[in-house]
Amino acid sequence: MELFRSPSGTRDWLPPDSERMAYLISAFAAQVELANYRLVLSPMFEDSGVFVRGVGDESEVVTKEMYDFTDKGGRSLALRPEGTASVVRAFLQHNPPVPFKAWYVGPSFRYERPQAGRYRQHHQVGIEALGPKDPYLDFEVISMLMNWFFSLGLRDLVLKLNSLGDDNCRPPYVRELSSYLEKNQNLLCVEHQQRWQVNPLRVLDCKKEECIAVKENAPKIKNSLCPECSMHFETLLSCLDEHKIDYVLDDYLVRGLDYYTRTTFEVACASLESSQNAIGGGGRYDNLAKALGGNDTPGIGFASGLERVLLACETQGILLPAVPSPKVFLADITGGGKAAHMIHVLRTLGIACDRAFDNRSLKSQLRQADKSGAILAIVVGEKEKEANCVQLKWLFPGDKDRFIQLLTVAADSSRDAGTNGRIFSPESDEPEKRDIIERYRLSDVLPEDLAYSAIKEFFRNA
Ligand code: HAM
Repeated sequence: MELFRSPSGTRDWLPPDSERMAYLISAFAAQVELANYRLVLSPMFEDSGVFVRGVGDESEVVTKEMYDFTDKGGRSLALRPEGTASVVRAFLQHNPPVPFKAWYVGPSFRYERPQAGRYRQHHQVGIEALGPKDPYLDFEVISMLMNWFFSLGLRDLVLKLNSLGDDNCRPPYVRELSSYLEKNQNLLCVEHQQRWQVNPLRVLDCKKEECIAVKENAPKIKNSLCPECSMHFETLLSCLDEHKIDYVLDDYLVRGLDYYTRTTFEVACASLESSQNAIGGGGRYDNLAKALGGNDTPGIGFASGLERVLLACETQGILLPAVPSPKVFLADITGGGKAAHMIHVLRTLGIACDRAFDNRSLKSQLRQADKSGAILAIVVGEKEKEANCVQLKWLFPGDKDRFIQLLTVAADSSRDAGTNGRIFSPESDEPEKRDIIERYRLSDVLPEDLAYSAIKEFFRNA
């Protein structure tokens, strides 16, 4: 029978990549929580209207890419293609106090043509701040995104910025753009020859050569901004200048979602293939709450695609930490019960450890121990089990000496307490004790209790 595979445009996350994703998420959380953004989890699917009205019924995300379906109860639902509309919907539904500062993480779904860095299910982290219209909030949001990237060690980033104006100054600009497009409509790509009138701004976002050429001489919105929008943008720019966050102004940055007003931004990573090099983007959406039926509430945020961030890190040789291997591996050839007890004790002591199952041969268990990445194997055979002892086997001999020292201390204190520390130093002087310990370490047994204390000390700061 043929094996099932993950659907086209999706991928499975296995260690260590899955752990690197987890690392990215926790680094992100730590960063944004410093600025009082708090976790919001919303459903992975919503009433389709949330995105149709929120993102825009003419946006590509809605018209071409949205996974929408009718459920068994006849409701029109959609897998979320992005997080902003969902967070704003949740904000309106629950009416928390403003400013409302949220961060989120989760999958987003877009029916796109899959390629490196472009998935049908990708994972975003993001923040949304609702309430203030203050340009210093724009600065906070943008600097948060850049700081996160810098903290990961990413280089070759280009922060692109634009202002899309507001209800006051954008309509006259769109009219000006429309008349320019009308004059040049025959030069547009096939699709936009038909559709430029529906949403002229979309043409500025088109990646087809023909539209890119027409765009070159298109009117720029910066020449049409009203004084309030200009002032807002200028304040943001001077704050970025003051804090030495580099940016380039991109007069045609409109982004693919229709809810943006005023500030829009995107971060491109030069080490990625150009069509998929946006590792984060966002902007203001002062009309979105109203478009979703709520009170007028300004907002701004960003989202970043974790797959692309991970790819950017890999391309730049940044190795994100994965979960470390177990420290200790238990090989029990007496049936497995002893290993069950010992890993239980070791894990209670906070030692990462693993074991073999199914009562396999010693050879097979030690092979598994080698593969596990553990530093130390503990071997238990019948003899050891009877005497409550264990055998130690070093898999990575790096730090043996320190372990021997700790073992000496553990043995001394155990002997002082009148227990079986004797096993190491029967009335002996120091060199002899070392010698015995050396011997024990190689092939002989030591008491289980001593093993626990020495292992605990050994791995305490490892
Ligand atoms: P977006 O630019 O559509 O914005 O997506 C945000 C990020 O998600 C992109 O910069 C990219 O890193 C990643 N991304 C998008 N689509 C894909 C894909 N098919 N495969 C892999 N990664 C992808 C938004 O979603 C807005 N909600 C951002 C925002 C928040 N605006 C305001 N607040």
